[in-house]
Amino acid sequence: MAFNNKPKKPTNLLSTNSQSFKAIKTINLRRRASLVFILLFTALVALFLHYKHSGATSAACATASTTAAMSWSGDLRRAEFAWNRLPFTENYQSPPLRIAVFSRKWPVNASPGGMERHALTLYTALARRGHQVHVFTSPPSMEIDRDNFGKTQSGSPQIHFHEGLAGQWRYNLAWKQFQEENDKSPFDVIHSESVALPHWLARDLPNLAVSWHGIALESLQSTIYQDLARRPNEPISTSFNTSLYGVVPKVIKEIRFFKNYAHHIAISDSCGEMLRDVYQIPTKRVHVILNGVNAEEFKGATKLGMEFRLTHKVPVNASLVMGVAGRLVKDKGHPLLYQAFTSLLTEHQDVYLIVAGSGPWEQRYRDMGGRVVVVGSLHPSELKGFYNAIDVFVNPTLRPQGLDLTLMEAMMCGKPVLASRFPSIKGSVVVSDELGFMFSPNVESLLEVLELVVGEGKERLQRMGRACGEYARAMFDAEKMALAYERLFLCIKDEAFCQYS
Ligand SMILES: *[C@@H]1O[C@H](CO)[C@@H](O)[C@H](O)[C@H]1NC(C)=O
Ligand SMILES: *[C@@H]1O[C@H](CO)[C@@H](O)[C@H](O)[C@H]1NC(C)=O
Repeated sequence: MAFNNKPKKPTNLLSTNSQSFKAIKTINLRRRASLVFILLFTALVALFLHYKHSGATSAACATASTTAAMSWSGDLRRAEFAWNRLPFTENYQSPPLRIAVFSRKWPVNASPGGMERHALTLYTALARRGHQVHVFTSPPSMEIDRDNFGKTQSGSPQIHFHEGLAGQWRYNLAWKQFQEENDKSPFDVIHSESVALPHWLARDLPNLAVSWHGIALESLQSTIYQDLARRPNEPISTSFNTSLYGVVPKVIKEIRFFKNYAHHIAISDSCGEMLRDVYQIPTKRVHVILNGVNAEEFKGATKLGMEFRLTHKVPVNASLVMGVAGRLVKDKGHPLLYQAFTSLLTEHQDVYLIVAGSGPWEQRYRDMGGRVVVVGSLHPSELKGFYNAIDVFVNPTLRPQGLDLTLMEAMMCGKPVLASRFPSIKGSVVVSDELGFMFSPNVESLLEVLELVVGEGKERLQRMGRACGEYARAMFDAEKMALAYERLFLCIKDEAFCQYS
């Protein structure tokens, strides 16, 4: 969905050169059609996001600065808030479950994507808790000991890589392996990471749950943002144009087939709302469980942060250090940050930006001079140092796939965040002003927020950081996520477990 064209130099709109003025006019006319279309659906999205912002979100706000745990009892299937808010420490005997997982990929190297990391974190935790986990996935991208890969002491999770080309998911091969395993002894519950298991196979499985890591209705909004971020003289790429016109039919298609999945796990509060309100899935079949990150791996470590600054030559007299991490590509909002930070530097001499990651925008950041410190792609073990080295974390993404783990990691390390105003982020991550700053994904709005952050100063940011750490540990702890999934799976197997008290 990303644009592939290199951005052109901005055109001077007041140029007296009539040739270029005419060119702009033609492009504007061409853009008008798509704008009308876009506006129509912006209105649609805005409408339904507006009328449903009561319950979970405001409750979450109230607890953000105190504790996220709440007292609640009832049928968990009726809960509309994120299950992560409930402690699952009541006395119940959890019988070992036999769980089948369909995941397009299973991480074998150091830098997996978000969805794979989620599967790995979740299933390693559930295996440790004694459940028998069988993962059905595509062939690994490197030579590994297939029979023992990833197993904990209990022999679980057992990874079934199907035959074929590395990384190429063939659901029918995985399905065959699943059936053989299921014939030996039936699975209690089956879990699909997004559409790994297609709906025509999922339809007949009453004990199936699917986790949605991004749905088409969410990408509708990011498509709108991405097109608006296009500069006036920048042509629309064919692939982006195709996705632009294809996104609404895709939403409708999803609404038609999603109902074939028995249980839906939304990984953000706003996705839960969309599934209930727009996708028309009965409330009892929609469960919100936020993704989690390893709380041991990401925590405050001042000394580590200082060392990171020293290693990467960030001067000690820097008044403020911002950080951004991830792939340095257009749809992650780098054109916006690049431009806004350039403007910020003209006013503030001693503000620094640490850029972690690689991609097409890396060289532009390198060319910005000494106050932008490009550290390249970081090994997972270096990330903690990075987060601890900064005062505030910036995530300008135009395309939040599900929920960005980097925001959670930064908050776990006690750093406030600066993020684009997406319903998923607003509803589940930056749920109050105490935790961070939000901007509309355009240069002016981002610059305004950057100025605001510089004005707030370090002490205020540190206070916010402490609130972030508290909220993140309460809501984004991977152990809690695993307990919530375990409870849902138990509830799918035996209704008695659906009651929470
Ligand atoms: C974008 O796609 C639409 C619908 O397929 C088409 O009518 C339009 O001409 C395309 N525009 C561009 C700039 O490619
Ligand atoms: C920070 O220190 C550097 C030298 O290490 C110096 O060039 C720069 O002017 C200093 N900036 C401020 C704001 O003191």
